[in-house]
Amino acid sequence: MNSTSEKVLEILLNTDGIVSGKVIGETLSISRVAVNKQIAKLKEQGINIESRKKGYILLDKDILSQVSLSKKLENNGLNFTLFIKEVDSTNNEAKKLMASQEGNFIIVAPIQCRGRGRNSRQFVSNIGGAYMTLCYIPKNIQIMDSLKLVLVTGLAVAEVLSELTEGVQIKWPNDVYIKGKKICGILLESVLNETTVSKLILGIGINVNNELSDEIKDIATSLKLEGVEIDRESIIVKVMSKLWEMLNEYERSGFKKFEKQYCDNCISIGKNVTVNTPDGIVQGKGIGISETGYLLVENEKGINEIIVGDVGL
Ligand code: BTN
Repeated sequence: MNSTSEKVLEILLNTDGIVSGKVIGETLSISRVAVNKQIAKLKEQGINIESRKKGYILLDKDILSQVSLSKKLENNGLNFTLFIKEVDSTNNEAKKLMASQEGNFIIVAPIQCRGRGRNSRQFVSNIGGAYMTLCYIPKNIQIMDSLKLVLVTGLAVAEVLSELTEGVQIKWPNDVYIKGKKICGILLESVLNETTVSKLILGIGINVNNELSDEIKDIATSLKLEGVEIDRESIIVKVMSKLWEMLNEYERSGFKKFEKQYCDNCISIGKNVTVNTPDGIVQGKGIGISETGYLLVENEKGINEIIVGDVGL
């Protein structure tokens, strides 16, 4: 994984402006010709490096690299991070890998040709967005509690985005919106034992610097459109670190600690909502969430517990 070209890329990433071939060569104990070869390899991968008289300059720093992601994400509980250049879906890759790999790991991809959303919907995953999946082995999570993990995941993303811009909210259960437009979708899949969750596959897609197609421009947004200048690696590292911290906290102390924060940030709570459920439309006021993470909607019939459903804005 720790290839020479990735080490060259790391030097370019850590340099403001031009770095000479001599400096790169001396740092990595390789010849100038070898440096040139590695630069050519990086350019072939689509990395925007310009060769100038005095050396090389990385023109676009929004780069995802295996070395840098691994260094920033791996800790005692997180076994490894895998950056894959071409995937159908990071959740699919995580599931394949889970069969042969022990422990917790992350898959990151720059693009997904078959990104999946909830209810078998497509999740458009073009270049510039952040697509990641955490494969997490919970210590002791009952099946009936798994929805709360979905809520915690949405909250983790919302917290990170709130540090960067205003107007961030969660739509129950875990879509993240900015000023009424969707910026992030989360897809949770799980492997169950008889009563507990043995593995969780938590897939997160965030619009960062990707272009949005005309069909979704009115209902979706990106960090770039919100005026936030940030690279995908920073977002991935921030989100995964926050999620890791919050999942561990959840396992120690349960959801109670997050409940107020979740409800305060949830667009579906405290106002009238229309929810499309498998059993029909439910209308009423979103008043909170139940012990198990269901959305509570109150109307003339009483309090309805929504287990699955699409909440209209
Ligand atoms: C939704 O909006 O319905 C959920 C979208 C989830 C998208 C993420 S991107 C990373 C991971 N891989 C997928 O195929 N889907 C999730």
